[in-house]
Amino acid sequence: MILIRSSMYLDFLSKFGVGGAHPGGIHLTKEIFKTEEINNTSYVLDVGCGTGQTAAYLADRYGAKVMGMDINPIMIEKAKKRMKKHRLPVEIIQGSIENFPLPDETFDVIISESVLAFANKPRSLKEIFRLLKSDGRFIANELTVNKHLGANNEEEIKRFYGLDDLLTEKEWLALFKQTSFKTLHIYRPTHVFFPNYSMPEFHHSKYIEPQLHAVSNQHFYMMAKYHGILDHRVFFCTK
Ligand SMILES: C[S@@+](CC[C@H](N)C(=O)[O-])C[C@H]1O[C@@H](n2cnc3c(N)ncnc32)[C@H](O)[C@@H]1O
Repeated sequence: MILIRSSMYLDFLSKFGVGGAHPGGIHLTKEIFKTEEINNTSYVLDVGCGTGQTAAYLADRYGAKVMGMDINPIMIEKAKKRMKKHRLPVEIIQGSIENFPLPDETFDVIISESVLAFANKPRSLKEIFRLLKSDGRFIANELTVNKHLGANNEEEIKRFYGLDDLLTEKEWLALFKQTSFKTLHIYRPTHVFFPNYSMPEFHHSKYIEPQLHAVSNQHFYMMAKYHGILDHRVFFCTK
């Protein structure tokens, strides 16, 4: 059985069908892959693929074999719809990255874009390590905090987004090391979370609970309140 966490924020993303729901958006994704060696022989896993924007891009732009996986059935439905509409042979599978029953060493590249922050990190990283080929690459664009806050402030952020904890860059690095990943380099952003040239897409569900309409404002309120604290990094790792 797949256990889906309750989070108003993740419910909002799925019902509004937000594509590119990660810091830097699809623009940053495209920048990241300019320096990766992806081609039609690569097998790529997009962990927590959401509506499938990145998975579709990698299949379309590089001809890579791509699998998108996500825990949320609404995201899965929207990602499948996207692949069908654009006739892309991307396999979309519902599951949790904490326990994803595929054979060891399946993928050349695994990417997570704002996903591990919402999951059990040690379990997810162990699974990603197992699924990655021995010379494979793991790229994680994940939420960081630039410093720890008082308990009340951290609780406010964790409750709204549905997170177990908030990690600094150093704490992420310790987790990667604990899972035996080698971190090759780190991209530290200098831009805002969602630059104007990379606004997210929306694929609305037919029915959206009224309370979810307030979530977007709350998200931007949190971004403003914790400006300079809530941040992200792109970690480039290998086995
Ligand atoms: C902030 S969204 C990012 C979605 C997508 N990567 C993007 O950038 O548009 C986080 C995604 O992670 C998914 N997710 C959360 N926990 C997960 C888990 N344990 N396994 C797989 N997906 C998960 C959510 O359902 C959601 O689609």
